[in-house]
Amino acid sequence: MKYLAFLKEKIKSYSFKDLLFLETESLVFGILTHVPTTFGVILRAIALKAFAQRCGGFAWLQQRATFVHMDRITFGKNFGVNTGAYINGVGGIEFGDYVLIGNNVTISSGMHPIDNVNIPVFSRPAVPKKIVIEDDVWIGAGAIIMPGVRLRKGTIIGANAVVTGDTEEYAVMAGAPARLLRLRNKHV
Ligand SMILES: CC(C)(COP(=O)(O)OP(=O)(O)OC[C@H]1O[C@@H](n2cnc3c(N)ncnc32)[C@H](O)[C@@H]1OP(=O)(O)O)[C@@H](O)C(=O)NCCC(=O)NCCS
Repeated sequence: MKYLAFLKEKIKSYSFKDLLFLETESLVFGILTHVPTTFGVILRAIALKAFAQRCGGFAWLQQRATFVHMDRITFGKNFGVNTGAYINGVGGIEFGDYVLIGNNVTISSGMHPIDNVNIPVFSRPAVPKKIVIEDDVWIGAGAIIMPGVRLRKGTIIGANAVVTGDTEEYAVMAGAPARLLRLRNKHV
């Protein structure tokens, strides 16, 4: 009974429709993520088309890439994501065309408020902060894209970077917090 009370507390901010969507998404992708070979990639691409808010083309999802709230994520043409990535669309995510995401990347569009020390962070539902990732962006392995960030056209994010702010067009970023290394289209 105590566990039921705990569950109730944990899901209190979700509508029934949200819960139904999240459970179905978790079931379908939880199974499909284990299907190896190109056949698995094709099955996941079909599921993505069905679950995403919008998908403008083809998607290449490797095994063990996890999505939450795909109904709040829009995908452009030619989207690729590698193993172990975690993409949470709670606050909305827009992907442009030709976006490539490395293994173990985290993109999460919500943040738990931390301003009130009298309420445990655990009990504060995530505040939505939309992330926009424009065309021709490559995100290196292990990078973290913070809530609310916009990666402008042509941005490259280095391995293990922590991206806390918007980027310029064609920026090459690295480090934690990520800093500009150079622009792809000119010397800086
Ligand atoms: C960011 C990146 C694209 C830069 O490549 P590059 O332009 O060829 O840069 P360089 O190798 O010439 O390095 C330039 C400087 O940045 C530093 N740097 C490069 N990548 C870095 C990273 N990920 N984090 C921190 N610093 C980095 C280098 O040490 C070098 O510093 P220095 O000038 O003090 O010597 C590349 O290093 C990278 O991280 N690629 C992602 C690879 C990956 O994740 N692959 C698998 C996913 S598909």
